[in-house]
Amino acid sequence: MRHPDSGGVCSEVRRIGGLSLRRNPLANKGCRAWVSPTLRGDIGWVKPTLLPDHIPMTQIKSLFATRLYHAQLSAHGAPIDPDEMEASCIAIANDDEAGQDWCEENGYAGYTSYASLDDLPYRFPIFKDLKKVLDKHVKTFAKDLAFDLGERKLKLDSLWINILPEGGIHTAHIHPHSVISGTTYVTMPEGASAIKFEDPRLAMMMAAPGRVKDAPEELRQFIYVEPAVGDVLLWESWLRHEVPMNMVEEDRVSVSFNYGWSD
Ligand SMILES: [Fe+2]
Repeated sequence: MRHPDSGGVCSEVRRIGGLSLRRNPLANKGCRAWVSPTLRGDIGWVKPTLLPDHIPMTQIKSLFATRLYHAQLSAHGAPIDPDEMEASCIAIANDDEAGQDWCEENGYAGYTSYASLDDLPYRFPIFKDLKKVLDKHVKTFAKDLAFDLGERKLKLDSLWINILPEGGIHTAHIHPHSVISGTTYVTMPEGASAIKFEDPRLAMMMAAPGRVKDAPEELRQFIYVEPAVGDVLLWESWLRHEVPMNMVEEDRVSVSFNYGWSD
């Protein structure tokens, strides 16, 4: 039995002696004084032994968490040489005419191999190495997410290069048909765009006030992350994100990917 003076929360209404009573919020000593909502005065003392023992201490929890995984690629498996990765991305972009055409037709500033090359890990050894490392990161993240995958595994189903020049932007989007998505960062010039994540409940917040500038990170509605070269970020694919306009002269180069729940 919790003693009310120990800080127990006892704000519920109770029936005592035929009356509905509520705890007197002005009582000096925890929960001892109870009042009638109509009489508005102390009408009796309740022994601590009458209080239920399931009333918890005041507590505020965070529920329905949105997890964001941020690590260095080298934390799992063999390191990926960032210079070699950068040279490979640029060489592929220069050779990929289909991809260049797609970017031009779709008004995509810069280059993406998303619509043109779907087999980078099979064509280029460095992307094969990257896939091996990413598999380990995704496995770690899936464990953190407490996914019950059963007999099936999370498997890479797409991986593509992004080259974002000055003025380039990648508007807000999700990655449908996938479970975990992410990006690894190949070239991040000083001042290059961060990645911006959006609270997935934003559409439900029509009447909610904004948050103060120094709100704790988990209570903010937008989060900006500035990864470094060689970092990997992972998130659940439903999490909306964007890359704001790249304001620096140098290209921002990254490799993004999706993992699905394979049969
Ligand atoms: Fe994305």
